[in-house]
Amino acid sequence: MSIRIGDTAPDFEAETTEGTIKFHDWLGDGWGVLFSHPKDFTPVCTTELGMVAALKGEFDRRNCKVMGLSVDGISDHEAWARDIAETQGHAPNFPLIGDKDRIVADLYDMIHPEADDTMTVRSVFIVGPDKKIKLTLTYPASTGRNFAEILRVIDSLQLTAKHKVATPANWENGQDVIIVPAVTNEEAKAKYPDGWDEQKPYLRVVKQPK
Ligand code: BEZ
Repeated sequence: MSIRIGDTAPDFEAETTEGTIKFHDWLGDGWGVLFSHPKDFTPVCTTELGMVAALKGEFDRRNCKVMGLSVDGISDHEAWARDIAETQGHAPNFPLIGDKDRIVADLYDMIHPEADDTMTVRSVFIVGPDKKIKLTLTYPASTGRNFAEILRVIDSLQLTAKHKVATPANWENGQDVIIVPAVTNEEAKAKYPDGWDEQKPYLRVVKQPK
């Protein structure tokens, strides 16, 4: 069963490089990213895990925990971490699930039935404080992910969870946003007394709320 935006993130207990973790307890009241990579000791995955480790402070700043997964065991993850530190300058500083029995991979539908069933695909799930899935992404094995984009989506999700706005194409934190169509002009006047740029009745652009 595929997982969709709005579903409750399936809970699980798993062995990780940081001990046994119960997913929902570990998430607590904050945000979370769960991402899978095909296999340990592979080149693209090595760069991805190094990059996520380098960006850990950015995830922390957003109150967002990060957890990786592959279908290799913990001892492989630990040996590989030394290679990641050596080649990328950052060892993984977040838990990596050793999902040898593919329990979490199956729960999150991370193994494509028509692909190589010994590897997980490059999946990303963003989970909100309400434990609901806010984003799903699947990348091909040959394409490393852009984790700056994942951070950008978290910024958008956190902003739009607080304010009745949406973020336009290529938006970056601090740039103008869009008043959602469900907000009437009367309501918008109360919220944005300095006004907005009405490019069309359905396209109202306003400064990002604080
Ligand atoms: C990689 O991470 O480099 C990789 C993994 C599986 C297939 C191709 C590349």
